Amino acid sequence: MNGPVAIILAAGQGKRMKSERAKVLHEVCGRPMIRYVVDAARGAGARTIVVVVGFAADQVRADLHDEPDVLFAEQAEQLGTGHAAKVCRPILSDYEGPAMILVGDEPLLRPEPLADLFRRQQEDNAACLLGTAMLPDPTGFGRILRDSAGRFLRIVEERDCSPEERAIREVNPSCYVFRLPILWEALDRITTTNAQREYYLTDAPAHLMAMGEKVLALNVLAAEDVLGVNTRQHLAQATAIMQERIHDHWMTEGVTIVDPRNTYIDGRAIIGVDTVIYPFSAITGRVRIGSACKIGPHAHLRDGTVLDDGVEVGAFVEVNRSHLGSRTLVRHLTYVGDADVGERVNFGATAVTANFDGIRKNPTRIGDGTLIGAGAVLVAPVTIGKRAVVGANAVVTRGHDVEDGQTVAGVPARLLASARDVHQDAE
Ligand code: UD1
Ligand code: CA
Repeated sequence: MNGPVAIILAAGQGKRMKSERAKVLHEVCGRPMIRYVVDAARGAGARTIVVVVGFAADQVRADLHDEPDVLFAEQAEQLGTGHAAKVCRPILSDYEGPAMILVGDEPLLRPEPLADLFRRQQEDNAACLLGTAMLPDPTGFGRILRDSAGRFLRIVEERDCSPEERAIREVNPSCYVFRLPILWEALDRITTTNAQREYYLTDAPAHLMAMGEKVLALNVLAAEDVLGVNTRQHLAQATAIMQERIHDHWMTEGVTIVDPRNTYIDGRAIIGVDTVIYPFSAITGRVRIGSACKIGPHAHLRDGTVLDDGVEVGAFVEVNRSHLGSRTLVRHLTYVGDADVGERVNFGATAVTANFDGIRKNPTRIGDGTLIGAGAVLVAPVTIGKRAVVGANAVVTRGHDVEDGQTVAGVPARLLASARDVHQDAE
């Protein structure tokens, strides 16, 4: 087992979400929340990450199958966060060292403060190091109780708070580093004498102190980073903050976003310098946009789309799983799906690639310098050569490929002229 280790609790149903899906799989800017937490844990220095799964365990396992450093522990019955940590004991039985415990429903966690927690735990060799945050509105969180000298005493869950305790604004964001194996002993002492009749992980620090161990609570986490998603409202709040971070990142990298409030960019998108994104555009999924492109207003770029440099995708254009070569223009009211398009191709308004035949999605190929007339329909699978012309409103039927330099028109499209004819006429 490579340390340091992180444990991410993700077995709960998230009842307040009212969903069939595991809460941690709900998406923030196109990615399941749990993925951000895995990234944060890894970024903080965790070499092995144990995800505790339970409700819809198969969904969560399937979603994380491509993460090589992630292992799973199964919590068959959700008896509380303390119990969730306990089910990791067999998988970590040989491991001695620091284990960070996080929850899977805090997608805004950042690696830097978590790395700090690992560092401080090493320095102080504390049995438990607890990151805390000061919130303007602490509702929903466990509160941090300290003595008059400011020393940590224990965590009280909101439901178990007295009115005075409720007023405390320092909260437990569930970001802990525990030393193993002493944590297992503390977990054995946890009982269910609380408002929810659950095993609370939040009781572990106080048990460690009673065992004579060192426990420190450090206020090192920013309010914005610890937003816990328990409801759909929280999901929208987390999405808004994450979207702001994504915009900020790309603007720093040299992308112009004309109206960030009305622009949606997936966490997995990549955008080149001097690209300008106009309002009401949505970039969803793994999309790669080159430099000096113009996107929108009202454009929708979907998963698997690659735009080379200088491409323009204008108003009410949707591009899906397609590659557009450099300086290709698709400026108005067009659908391009499953297409591999060359350089300097021009799509007239309302031209479409008809990629779906009712059973499968079929590819369209278009060569460099070709003109696709306004209203043309390209019924896939079909290939249009280089420097060809498809007339306005033509329907190029499936398999009736257009060769380099040919001009076709009509319904179904027929050959009007080929490059050779044009050449001979000239002679
Ligand atoms: C928990 C903390 C609370 C803290 C808050 C911050 C406890 C008892 N309370 O409350 O102090 O302020 O997080 O985020 O720990 N889970 C399991 N198995 C279970 C129960 C929960 O894996 O049996 C997982 C959930 O999937 C979730 C995480 O643990 O990802 C937290 O559970 P949740 O029910 O959201 O706890 P909170 O009420 O938010
Ligand atoms: Ca929570």
